[in-house]
Amino acid sequence: MVRVAVVTGGTRGIGAAISEALHKADYKVAATYHGNDVAAQKFTEKTGIAAYKFDVGDFNACKTGLAKIESELGAVDVLVNNAGITRDGFLHKMTPEQWSEVIHTNLNSVFNMSRLVIEGMRERCFGRIVSISSINGQAGQAGQTNYSAAKAAIIGFTKALAQESASKGITVNAIAPGYIDTDMVRAVPPETLAKIVGKIPLKRLGKPEEIAAMVVFLASNQAGFATGATFTVNGGQYMA
Ligand code: CAA
Repeated sequence: MVRVAVVTGGTRGIGAAISEALHKADYKVAATYHGNDVAAQKFTEKTGIAAYKFDVGDFNACKTGLAKIESELGAVDVLVNNAGITRDGFLHKMTPEQWSEVIHTNLNSVFNMSRLVIEGMRERCFGRIVSISSINGQAGQAGQTNYSAAKAAIIGFTKALAQESASKGITVNAIAPGYIDTDMVRAVPPETLAKIVGKIPLKRLGKPEEIAAMVVFLASNQAGFATGATFTVNGGQYMA
């Protein structure tokens, strides 16, 4: 039986690697995106994975988007909440917009998408929800009160939903990546990034594929005893 997986923010960065790894593992994959049409089109041409454009921070947009995905691919078995943005700045300079945009995309999305798939998963007595948190939700990061708050909240959400869902065959886990080689991390000022990499015991950035491999494991039947957990993949930078 082929399972259906939805990956939010699934056409670029870590999300693209997750979509591709699930596709290679024989899932039917839907990759959602919001902004970059050109990147999404290239991704679909390269991989054959369908891309669906909607704002994951908007509940009604998610409802419409998921209905389209389910009518084309089937009921969702695996949800990967990956979509995320940064709007970095120290709190004393942060605008309400910088705060709200990050909460909208990185946290409200997790409620919206999980809320919309959870009833079906409960009825079918199977589901996998994997949400991408961050080392900066575990350790904090100067310049990221908004992002650190959203990523820490994902860990609490994961523990609560795991308790609600265990009896229905649904596992709910988080992954906390460290600094991974993506456009988001490359946007950090080079001197700041060099200092960060210097503090990573493995002395390098992670690769998107190294996060994707963990998602494929957590989505599998073999991972059935893992729930409510946060899996840290950060080169040893923060030993949670
Ligand atoms: N801790 C404490 N103070 C710090 C600091 C830190 N880590 N970094 C800088 N400061 C201090 C500076 O020394 C400076 O102090 P003085 O004014 O006394 O000299 C002050 O804070 C201002 O620093 P900046 O000049 O850097 O301020 P800025 O306003 O130009 O930039 C910033 C602030 C945008 C937050 C910038 O420092 C930055 O981009 N930092 C990187 C933040 C970061 O790591 N983001 C991660 C993005 S990747 C990601 O999020 C993916 C993931 O999950 C890992």
